[in-house]
Amino acid sequence: MSTPNTALVIGASGGIARALIDELLTHPEIEYVHAISRSDLVNTHPNITAYTLNSLDEHAVAEFVEQQKSDATQYRFVISTVGILHREPSDSLCGLKPEKRLEDIDPLQLQAYFEVNTILPAIWLKHLVKIMPKRLPSTIAFLSARVGSITDNKLGGWYGYRASKSALNMLIKNAAIEYSRRNKNVALLSYHPGTVDTGLSKPFQANVKSDKLFTPEFTAQCLVSLLTQATAEESPYYLDWAGKTIPW
Ligand SMILES: NC(=O)c1ccc[n+]([C@@H]2O[C@H](COP(=O)([O-])OP(=O)(O)OC[C@H]3O[C@@H](n4cnc5c(N)ncnc54)[C@H](OP(=O)(O)O)[C@@H]3O)[C@@H](O)[C@H]2O)c1
Repeated sequence: MSTPNTALVIGASGGIARALIDELLTHPEIEYVHAISRSDLVNTHPNITAYTLNSLDEHAVAEFVEQQKSDATQYRFVISTVGILHREPSDSLCGLKPEKRLEDIDPLQLQAYFEVNTILPAIWLKHLVKIMPKRLPSTIAFLSARVGSITDNKLGGWYGYRASKSALNMLIKNAAIEYSRRNKNVALLSYHPGTVDTGLSKPFQANVKSDKLFTPEFTAQCLVSLLTQATAEESPYYLDWAGKTIPW
């Protein structure tokens, strides 16, 4: 049996994802990175294999997983960085703006948040169970957010983003129970990266103190360290960048 030496990054064109791929390539256990994006990635490293795939197309995800199974790919780490918070009104998929009050709730907007932040990760959880290593440790992580914590919510607002990340957390907790029966060596992790200087947080950075606005490189380093330490026995985790547990 070969040792898992490959990492899979889903949503690979994003700000955190790009830093994460660079960080993974320096990890002593990782030789290859598979990078999935909706858009064609410019492949700059011989050990990165780029796949153009829309993860909302379950058929495409199933096909990708079947291909990896027949290639006997062993994933040490899988990380989904996929998430949306806002979109320009001109976006072809429909604009998105985090709700400030109840009157801002819009069914189509809610649907869009749940599709990307919750349903897309669920599709991956469903299909990955078939190919994660059975006997050697591995970790699957999803970029969630502290605002998805039901216990921690003191501010309100952002109905769609919060609720879709809370639902993601529930999926991770629920799936961890089934993974522990079907695939005992997989750890599941819900990760809050802090406020990170990427396109996603750009419109909301005005009130963030400079020492609380992290670089993608910093949060990628924190995440990779947590991925390495995670164990199936302690799974599932809901952790922030400093490794502190967030209440579900
Ligand atoms: N930045 C922050 O301050 C912050 C704070 C808390 C949590 N987070 C979470 O961290 C994650 C990464 O965020 P980021 O800051 O790196 O944001 P980003 O640069 O906007 O990247 C987000 C990624 O999500 C994917 N995505 C967006 N819309 C999608 C759609 N309709 N269908 C499929 N994939 C879609 C994109 O992947 P493609 O490559 O496929 O286009 C993109 O790479 C997100 O889950 C976010 O919620 C970020």
